[in-house]
Amino acid sequence: MLTTNGPIGVFDSGYGGLTILNKFRELLPQYDYIYLGDNARTPYGTRSFEVVYDFTLQAVRKLFELGCPLVILACNTASAKALRSIQQNDLPYIDPTRRVLGVIRPTVECIGELTKSRHIGLLATAGTVRSESYPLEIKKLYPDIQVTGVPCPLWVPLVENNEFNSPGADYFVKKYIDLLLDKDPDIDTIILGCTHYPLLIEKIKQFTPPHIRLIAQGEYVGNSLKDYLSRHPEMKSRLTVNRSCEFLTTESVEKFKESAAIFLHQEVHVRSIVLE
Ligand code: DGL
Repeated sequence: MLTTNGPIGVFDSGYGGLTILNKFRELLPQYDYIYLGDNARTPYGTRSFEVVYDFTLQAVRKLFELGCPLVILACNTASAKALRSIQQNDLPYIDPTRRVLGVIRPTVECIGELTKSRHIGLLATAGTVRSESYPLEIKKLYPDIQVTGVPCPLWVPLVENNEFNSPGADYFVKKYIDLLLDKDPDIDTIILGCTHYPLLIEKIKQFTPPHIRLIAQGEYVGNSLKDYLSRHPEMKSRLTVNRSCEFLTTESVEKFKESAAIFLHQEVHVRSIVLE
């Protein structure tokens, strides 16, 4: 099998994965990255298992075609609904030497040390909450922890439409937090299980009692990638190190540049592509 050297691929349904990419570039600045946002078909959170799986597999194939030996699904919905099938069913046929990793496991791993009450809240897309991926993964590592999830279907549109700081956002931010804490008042830690949500964190803090810890994933996923590479020299040696970052979108270049400015504070090189 021909082994390829190349950048780390980072995939999200839209712009949310940029919060993860930013952490990667902060913690592992030496590597090359390709970010792919399926902005034309976002959001994934309300789509069926089959559709999220198909779209995610198309994105992974594209990033492989572009030479990425390693792809991170920087999207909880894709990690919840597509990661396992891709790892188990597709990767062995496409190229068993490449890797696809997600964001759920690294987030879950940190939870055990953070909660005292052993009651965890999960705020995420409907797809992620319904997939039960978080409670299932948490049960494997920490059987004593109780997980309560609430879907927040309006939070991704608030972020994608740059309305996350508007007074209109208050109502929907408060609504889902109240719903979660009504369901389980003993929660002391809340996972923001969607890569878009860190953009809403100031508002989320405003409506969350101060004793509750909020978990934004970037740091945990970034550290976990660092750790993964230190344990996998065979993968590390295949990653190119020119500090470059290319952005691909299924939407128009102009639209991506305009919206991505919320997440990135620099001029970026963007290319429009088709996924099929
Ligand atoms: N950013 C994606 C996630 O982490 C969700 C956005 C969407 O619904 O497409 O789940």
